[in-house]
Amino acid sequence: MTDSITHGPFPATRFRRMRKDAFSRRLMREHSVSTDMLIQPYFVIEGDNVTEDVSAMPGVKRWSIDLLVEQCHASFERGVPAVVLFPVTPDSAKTAACENAYDDDGLPQRAIRAIKSAVPELGVITDVALDPYSIHGQDGLMNSNGYIINDETVAVLVKQALSHARAGADMVGPSDMMDGRVGAIRTALEDAGFINTRILAYAAKYASCLYGPFREAVGSAANLQGADKYSYQIDPGNTDEALREVALDIEEGADMVMIKPGLPYLDIVYRIKSTFGVPTAAYHVSGEYSMLKAAAGNGWVDERQAVMECMTAFKRAGSDAVLTYYANDIAEWLSHP
Ligand code: PBG
Repeated sequence: MTDSITHGPFPATRFRRMRKDAFSRRLMREHSVSTDMLIQPYFVIEGDNVTEDVSAMPGVKRWSIDLLVEQCHASFERGVPAVVLFPVTPDSAKTAACENAYDDDGLPQRAIRAIKSAVPELGVITDVALDPYSIHGQDGLMNSNGYIINDETVAVLVKQALSHARAGADMVGPSDMMDGRVGAIRTALEDAGFINTRILAYAAKYASCLYGPFREAVGSAANLQGADKYSYQIDPGNTDEALREVALDIEEGADMVMIKPGLPYLDIVYRIKSTFGVPTAAYHVSGEYSMLKAAAGNGWVDERQAVMECMTAFKRAGSDAVLTYYANDIAEWLSHP
């Protein structure tokens, strides 16, 4: 971090000298994009040899496990270090108590086992939250007043995280924003002997409209019926609250923290990375992806350049890793500069 930026007067200082040629631009470049930073999300569905398009996210598909394994293999071959799985639960499996979330034979649990046996070195990250399993599309259990109840939800999240660990998940990602869940999951993992299962805490998750396309992709939009998540996700007007969330999650045993959404929240990424200096990820969310796709599809921006510029911005702000629907594309672009 530069505290004082000094320079002599013109013409001793001509910034354009260093900018003149590619060699000197390269020598002074502080941040660049690498495949090492990429996490590729995948939507998983039941069935064999089936895919479905996600209409709000052009180019993104839902995959049955057999095809997902092939996709994961391709991601690994391109150099992507890790994937994160989002199950699309059939409506018939959604309940008030969300039992399906911790079924050892559930969709993500089967997907984890299949991926880890086919591509063992690929990092498999899971999403710990109840929205794919709840009849109301909320991330937790609901009481009769429509309020999402914290401690009862945490108990279910712990069972869910344990079932992911048993299936072989390398890293569990609580995205629910309940209080105390990171500590509860950490204790349960330790007690069960999963001492190396990492926790990627969605520590600073804002109540954002940019999750809209994702909710269509996983099918929770219909269950939510227009309801919001303001009682547990952070108000977009706040900054200090995000730092307090991160401080607590680190104390409770998070190995990596995540800020979500991404680009509109780079001030938060910057503050968190400079305050805590912990492994930090940002989530380039579905709405950010769809906005880029729409502009690129209309010929308004060059897709590849726009995406790479966004990724550079994530790096500059202090993100070590970025979860992005463009991960496979970026890895491909980096291998053909
Ligand atoms: C739910 C979850 C959401 C996302 C990841 N996990 C949506 C939500 O909180 O409603 C959003 C990801 C995206 O928009 O790409 N636990």
